[in-house]
Amino acid sequence: MTYIVGYIVGSLSQKSINRTLALALSRLAPPELRLTEIPIDQLPLYSYDYDPDYPAVAQEFKDAIKASDALLFVTPEYNRSVPAALKNAIDWATRPYGSNVLNGKPSAIIGTSPGQVSTAVAQQHLKTILSFTNSPVLGQPEAYIQFTKGLINDEGDIQVPSVAEFLTGYLRAFTAHIRHHHHDIPGL
Ligand code: FNR
Repeated sequence: MTYIVGYIVGSLSQKSINRTLALALSRLAPPELRLTEIPIDQLPLYSYDYDPDYPAVAQEFKDAIKASDALLFVTPEYNRSVPAALKNAIDWATRPYGSNVLNGKPSAIIGTSPGQVSTAVAQQHLKTILSFTNSPVLGQPEAYIQFTKGLINDEGDIQVPSVAEFLTGYLRAFTAHIRHHHHDIPGL
């Protein structure tokens, strides 16, 4: 069975190292996973004033999540938390009240930064958020990728064999996680 994995990059930068990591993951993914980006860069800042007349861009965003079997969050850490753009996207996904498209949707989190902590703190915050939105998150392996020069080439290939091996195992575990949760019924 092939699973559609919508990936959400938490950075709005054209030069995002997390988007580079997402590209590398797309290339490493096993045949069961089809990775496709769900963009968040056109979403306005959420307010519940939008609820009665949901903007098309936000509805398309929610529809893309609904159409995905699972979500992969590839996110930087900004000031020891998730970027505001990512939190905003999650807020859109959960509203109007009663139409939370993250409910029951299996997910995984990964991120890269040049620092040694490599997004670990942001990932913990994101896990707390996804716990509240009732999206079962892959627990292990955790994936904190320190971005070093030359780690990923322009084609999106990982240049360090141990990292490529780790990421391949990570994607294998994510596939098992999706398979396990695939029959959960989103009911909210
Ligand atoms: C950062 N950066 C950063 N890195 C980190 O490891 N922990 C942190 O808390 C922060 N905080 C932070 C705040 C803000 C506002 C910016 C712009 C950056 C550095 C960050 O890891 C680096 O800029 C990465 O390139 C961000 O990933 P993207 O956006 O390139 O994918």
